[in-house]
Amino acid sequence: MKEQPEVIVCVGTGGVGKTTVSSAIGMTGALGGKKTLVMTIDPAKRLAQSMGIKELKNTPTPVPLKALQQCGQPIRGSLDAMILETQTTFNNLIKKYSSSPQKADAILNNSYYHYVSGELAGSEDYMAMEKLYEIKKDYDYDLIVVDTPPARHAINFLTAPNRLIQLISSGVLKWLIRPSTSMSMIGFNILNRAPQKIVKLLKSYVGLEIVEELTEFFSEFNDLYSGFKSRAKEVHDLLASPRVQFYMVTAPTREAIEEAVYFYSIMKGYEIHFAGFIVNKIHPLLYNDAGRAQSSRIIRTLDQDDPLRITLEQTLTMDSIALHDQELIAYLKSKVRSQKIAYYLSSLIMDRELMNLCSLVTIAQALDGILG
Ligand SMILES: Nc1ncnc2c1ncn2[C@@H]1O[C@H](COP(=O)(O)OP(=O)(O)OP(=O)(O)O)[C@@H](O)[C@H]1O
Ligand SMILES: [Mg+2]
Repeated sequence: MKEQPEVIVCVGTGGVGKTTVSSAIGMTGALGGKKTLVMTIDPAKRLAQSMGIKELKNTPTPVPLKALQQCGQPIRGSLDAMILETQTTFNNLIKKYSSSPQKADAILNNSYYHYVSGELAGSEDYMAMEKLYEIKKDYDYDLIVVDTPPARHAINFLTAPNRLIQLISSGVLKWLIRPSTSMSMIGFNILNRAPQKIVKLLKSYVGLEIVEELTEFFSEFNDLYSGFKSRAKEVHDLLASPRVQFYMVTAPTREAIEEAVYFYSIMKGYEIHFAGFIVNKIHPLLYNDAGRAQSSRIIRTLDQDDPLRITLEQTLTMDSIALHDQELIAYLKSKVRSQKIAYYLSSLIMDRELMNLCSLVTIAQALDGILG
């Protein structure tokens, strides 16, 4: 039997349906009796919208599932949703690893901290994974589904903990300042080890206040190295564990499928459990082979403006789009041949206006089996 995932991460390129599918997987969990959380890293408001919540917070908020009575779905579990705010997560980490509340305050109130926490190479990506780790540890969810921003960015999440470990190991000053930032030109290595003379010179160059604030910042931050490093290792280990499964969401267009194949080839290189593809927005096939041939025959016997002919032509056109979808799925499968990879197909919900909890259930039903 397939191992039941505790975390599912949905990645994929822009607009293929990552947010929708993540919500639907969350729904699958809740329908199946699991205590479920859907968390989004994407600042777009779509997750909140599709779940009927006004605003997502940085902490789990229950999704009101009463609306599901309309589509006759008894919910046995529960569904929460949240958005990851990286700045709050960063602040909390500083508090956690500072040796005293006073030291934490000194860093948090240092004006340079806000600049650094925003500019820190990879900090956004790392903080997202850090928050996942924290939630996983502090709450007792059976299932956490993570919705990510478009793929190019999502790949960064996978590397973030390792990058952080490496950067810390190689010296935090290098890590703190991106080479491109103007501040790096000041040369913080010099600042920390410099003889008083150089510091004096710098003070006259950039101003006493800034130098003092920076020196203070780095000396306070020193305390945090080892805490940050071991934490990053734990986050890395969580991402690499089989309890965390990655799915690539894609859609039946040539471009989206090619990109999915490409990103799969990159993800294969990481120490993660890639569980499968979810091809979303599949058009339904309207005919089988015999029905298709018969409709074509009937069309030939009808006048150009015969309403039946027009209707049949329309359905054949829609059917040919669905056939094209099937060809693209076959192409994807031919490119990714691995017995460990699962494929799930979720249909295009025709009435866009209906993208609500009940349509999520329809998508969820197509994904049945994804949770083991
Ligand atoms: N199965 C579906 N049927 C119909 N519409 C869908 C389906 N899945 C997603 N959509 C619609 O497609 C649009 C994009 O979906 P969604 O926001 O989930 O994609 P995304 O991959 O998260 O996008 P982004 O990359 O911008 O974060 C939305 O308008 C959504 O309602
Ligand atoms: Mg999205």
